[in-house]
Amino acid sequence: MQATARAQPNIALVKYWGKRDSDRNLPAVDSLSLTLADLHTDMQVRFEDGLAHDELTLNAKPRPDLGARVSRCLDRVAGPGRSRARIDSHSNFPVGAGLASSASSFAALVVAGAAAAGRKASREELARLAGAESGSAARSLYGGIVELVNRDDTIDVGMLCSVDDWDLRVVVAVTDAGPKPVASGDAMELSRRTSPFYGRWIDEQPADMAAARAALTARDLDALGEVAEHNCLKMHSVMWASRPAMVYWNAATVNCLQTVRDLRRGGHGVFFTIDAGPQVKAICTPDHEDAVAAALAETAGVREVLRSRLGEGARLLGEAA
Ligand code: PMV
Repeated sequence: MQATARAQPNIALVKYWGKRDSDRNLPAVDSLSLTLADLHTDMQVRFEDGLAHDELTLNAKPRPDLGARVSRCLDRVAGPGRSRARIDSHSNFPVGAGLASSASSFAALVVAGAAAAGRKASREELARLAGAESGSAARSLYGGIVELVNRDDTIDVGMLCSVDDWDLRVVVAVTDAGPKPVASGDAMELSRRTSPFYGRWIDEQPADMAAARAALTARDLDALGEVAEHNCLKMHSVMWASRPAMVYWNAATVNCLQTVRDLRRGGHGVFFTIDAGPQVKAICTPDHEDAVAAALAETAGVREVLRSRLGEGARLLGEAA
């Protein structure tokens, strides 16, 4: 009745922002992302008959404040009549800071939870279960470059390129490792209700997805960067125009954008993206990685630079027992 799974965060290049059905957590738009290799969350789920309620620890600290979403997700995976569980989560990167820890956490949770409950579920089914709690988590079930596409009353998730198809590198400039002020789920609802740009954001997503897919097929980093930066800044414009305004950036975030643009002007193939937090993710090919990491590390306000290759989808560590 116990199992451990590992999952990595994913970084969206064409972003998910907004829900078409908030009860079922169905996204309003399709999205496309890179699954990372070097940042990870390991999650152990152990069902125990004698427990009165679920007990969650995160990096060895009890976190009852985060327990409701975890319990709800386990109910979907193992059924509401399940035994209560001890859930131990370990991440090797800052959690809740805009580094997609909810994606790696819920992807690892569904894989470990299903195995511990003895439920045989397809990857597709696990992706939908993870997506029901965190939209982006559905993408972390798959490795490499992944797309999430809306279907009538569900989502389809699949790999577009494997880790061997295109060797991309992600350099993350951490500008503030503290927790973000507003959870992305709440912020995207605020955008839907109040941002004058929300409708336009939804309408233009199919064109951005098509441009990103074409750039992937051609392995064209410049074209991929052009649409990814546009899509990222458009998502943040939607947030900035919400009432109240949602601004996740700090001064160092803007400094990092400038660094990436300067690198590009200097001939380096690199582009940026930013999620619901102040960190900047720079995407490049291996030959530019050292220069990108060095320039971001020297940028004013950057606290730490993390580097990653592309990685595999969520998986069990060892056998369930
Ligand atoms: O899956 P959530 O609810 O954490 O939302 C993720 C939203 C973004 O990271 C900003 C974009 C994305 O597609 O991952």
